[in-house]
Amino acid sequence: MSAHTHIPVLLQETVEALAVQPGGRYIDCTLGAGGHAAAILDQSTPGGQLLGIDADPEIIEIAKARLETYSNSTLLVNENFVNLEAICIKYDFLPVHGILFDLGLSSLQLNSHDRGFSFQHDAPLDMRLSPNQEVTVADIINTSSETELAHLIKTYGEESYSHQIAHRVVQERPINTTFQLVRTIEQAVGGRRGRLHPATKTFQALRIAVNHELEHLEAALKQAINLLGFEGRLVVISYHSLEDRIVKQLMQRESKDCICPPSVPTCVCGHKACLRLINKRVITPSPTEVHLNPRSRSAKLRAAEHIITQNEYYRSAEEHSFSAQPNAEGWRRPALLKKLRATFSML
Ligand SMILES: C[S@@+](CC[C@H](N)C(=O)[O-])C[C@H]1O[C@@H](n2cnc3c(N)ncnc32)[C@H](O)[C@@H]1O
Repeated sequence: MSAHTHIPVLLQETVEALAVQPGGRYIDCTLGAGGHAAAILDQSTPGGQLLGIDADPEIIEIAKARLETYSNSTLLVNENFVNLEAICIKYDFLPVHGILFDLGLSSLQLNSHDRGFSFQHDAPLDMRLSPNQEVTVADIINTSSETELAHLIKTYGEESYSHQIAHRVVQERPINTTFQLVRTIEQAVGGRRGRLHPATKTFQALRIAVNHELEHLEAALKQAINLLGFEGRLVVISYHSLEDRIVKQLMQRESKDCICPPSVPTCVCGHKACLRLINKRVITPSPTEVHLNPRSRSAKLRAAEHIITQNEYYRSAEEHSFSAQPNAEGWRRPALLKKLRATFSML
């Protein structure tokens, strides 16, 4: 596999939305083949630093080779971004100027012939981002009840034939390969409907479920906000409506001073905005980009800026999961870091 078989999506727009500056510190939570990371490192020279995270150990090796020339300014970690806060504390990498999430899978994973991500290759039904995860898609397919399967395919795939597919899957079990599953889905729903292959939505649903993608995204975004310094940027590129909804709702909520329901006449929530939206309208790839890289067609970029200053941060520290006491040492909080690093040394 070569890093260059993945074309980074919305590259220029991402670097602009992150407002990358020389000497800045950035986190790429979805390092992939390192395409965005390389652009961030180029723009942040001299003195820039990048923490790159990816859950997939094979991908991290590819990124390491690609980013070798920047090895003095990069720290690459094979971890799940759901542990973002703990990773930053462990490596003393906070606060930061910008955090990027380019969600989903890289072309290297989608094109792989043995991971089960694509219904175009016959492979074991795996789809785990990391071999450290215990449960595979085959486990889900072969052990869930029909009702559970239908619910999962409906919720994570927005598949209107979820009941028919779940029913057929239960009849055909055990199902252990991608092609077996594709045949089962085709038997359940018939041939191609519109532009989409009949297995597209079910494969999406199973991948989301096995990797807990939506829960991890929501948790990581909340942590990311707390890791940004004043005016630090959060940039997220999503590829389907379930991801985009989480990003949009969180950014909108955190950019409002009051989140009381409209029926409440006077604010009782005490909520305070901590973000400012950079782009009110979502950014999407140009027709030229989609033509050159068809996988970019569903991409949506949202960006926001952290607007809580250091003093305000300390005032609200009690709400922060790792509450810090105000002290003269500022953002770096060495005493707190020492204590927490011990806690997370097992990572
Ligand atoms: C679309 S690719 C990123 C491509 C990258 N921006 C580039 O330019 O090469 C998404 C990457 O995020 C990783 N990923 C997805 N979910 C993750 C998670 N929860 N934790 C860590 N990495 C994750 C995948 O393994 C994949 O390599």
